[in-house]
Amino acid sequence: MNDWQALRDHHRMVADRPILTLFDDNRAKAFSARADGLLFDFSKTNICDTGLDLLLQLAEGADLATKRDAMFSGARINETEHRAVLHTALRNMNDPVLVDGVDVTVALRETHARMQAFARDVRSGAFAGQGGRITDVVNIGIGGSDLGPAMAAIALSPYAEDLRTHFVSNVDGAHIADVLKGLDPATTLVIVASKTFTTIETMTNAETAKAWMAQGVAEPATQFAAVSTAADKTAAFGIDPSRVFGFEDWVGGRYSMWGPIGLALMLAIGPEEFDEFLAGGAAMDAHFRDADLSKNLPVLLALVGIWHNQICDYATRAVLPYEQRLARLPAYLQQLEMESNGKRVSMDGVDLAVHSGPVVWGEPGTNGQHAFYQLIHQGTRVIPCEFLVGREGHEPELAHQHRLLVANCLAQSEALLRGRSLEQATEIQRKKGLEGPELDRQARHRVFPGNRPSTTLCYLKLTPFVLGQIVALYEHRVFVEGVILGINSYDQWGVELGKELALALQPILEGASAEGKDGSTRQLVDFLR
Ligand code: F6P
Repeated sequence: MNDWQALRDHHRMVADRPILTLFDDNRAKAFSARADGLLFDFSKTNICDTGLDLLLQLAEGADLATKRDAMFSGARINETEHRAVLHTALRNMNDPVLVDGVDVTVALRETHARMQAFARDVRSGAFAGQGGRITDVVNIGIGGSDLGPAMAAIALSPYAEDLRTHFVSNVDGAHIADVLKGLDPATTLVIVASKTFTTIETMTNAETAKAWMAQGVAEPATQFAAVSTAADKTAAFGIDPSRVFGFEDWVGGRYSMWGPIGLALMLAIGPEEFDEFLAGGAAMDAHFRDADLSKNLPVLLALVGIWHNQICDYATRAVLPYEQRLARLPAYLQQLEMESNGKRVSMDGVDLAVHSGPVVWGEPGTNGQHAFYQLIHQGTRVIPCEFLVGREGHEPELAHQHRLLVANCLAQSEALLRGRSLEQATEIQRKKGLEGPELDRQARHRVFPGNRPSTTLCYLKLTPFVLGQIVALYEHRVFVEGVILGINSYDQWGVELGKELALALQPILEGASAEGKDGSTRQLVDFLR
């Protein structure tokens, strides 16, 4: 706790310091780091040399390097589920990793090769539906079996060719009804993606899809594939083992898009581009393992996060991609960060002495600017912002629009930093002809407090490689934050209670007695059933 106390003491001394005053000729360079074409700039935060040293001490005090190496080596660091955490092996299948003495990469390579062959067959038409070449792929999954590939399919749409990919997750029948409307069962491939193959939403939607398929083709099961750790359950559902792609329980759901859960993405962009995505992830792994902590992107992102959340007490973190195709990145990160680090006890079951991870939210710029940035600029709470922006878009003919996008991104972080003082606002209003009390009143509404922290992650262009780097960067950031907080980032017990109660409520909604339920729940049941 000494390291935490030292940081809190330091924060108390510097809390009101204008970030702008920290800038000298060297600050931007000193408070940023690069890795394989990425630039992470955290100079627009209230972290100074002393603060950074103290944050790095916190990381070292938590034995970060040893724990990082333990994760990569296949140690069972997910202690409440007694599992290794090896999503990193999915993107680097050439270096052996032993779990219980067995090199797990052998099976990974075999499954990867099967996925590639299947993807090539579907894309070439060698694997066809009963009405001809597959035109549409529907991925049915939820949480980690949906958000990763769904986010990436949009992000990498410039690399997707003929196949259309769709994602169904919600148990709300409206979701699957809307997706299937207009699709032809005879040329549609359905992927049932579920690590456990028991998730109620996914299995319910899978049955609905099966019934829909049966109306259009004679042998519906032949147009289903499955991605799961539960081979017995995929067989019971009727999916031929040749179209079942398995993975091990040491791949956490929200970390699983690199392996078979990424099948829909591989179908969309092709095996070669998918391998580029893996290579980007592997490049970030190498950086995370090798770079000095003080220049290590995942470590720095995590330390900035700890500074803002646990030390400054800013409860939320806005993720603001200036890249329309990263529209689902905030939703993806919500699961990655909040399911991983939203814990109340440390690894040994003791109540946390500090807050757990922040609320993560966001929308792409520039849309967010016309919606919620008002509160970010002038609201009473401080919201640290994480901007993401690329040097180049995929539409060279619209380069002028890309410049406008970049200008907006940079303008926002500059505005948050500088703000606009009452004197400046008054001067502007005076020039417009206002005077007296009205001048003062109008000027006050136009003050921006400024001194609001932000970071910016720059990349060259949103390629599969770069997306791989970004996703792996955030994964490792979550890991580092988890290590510093002393929690298990790889379980998710907090989702269980709601699942159990939903099962119990189903019969009540069908007419069974609601006895034992609280008054509010009884009233809601009465209204809704
Ligand atoms: O309910 C949470 C969760 O277990 C996530 O962790 C997981 O990504 C999601 O459900 C889906 O689980 P599955 O892949 O087993 O269907």
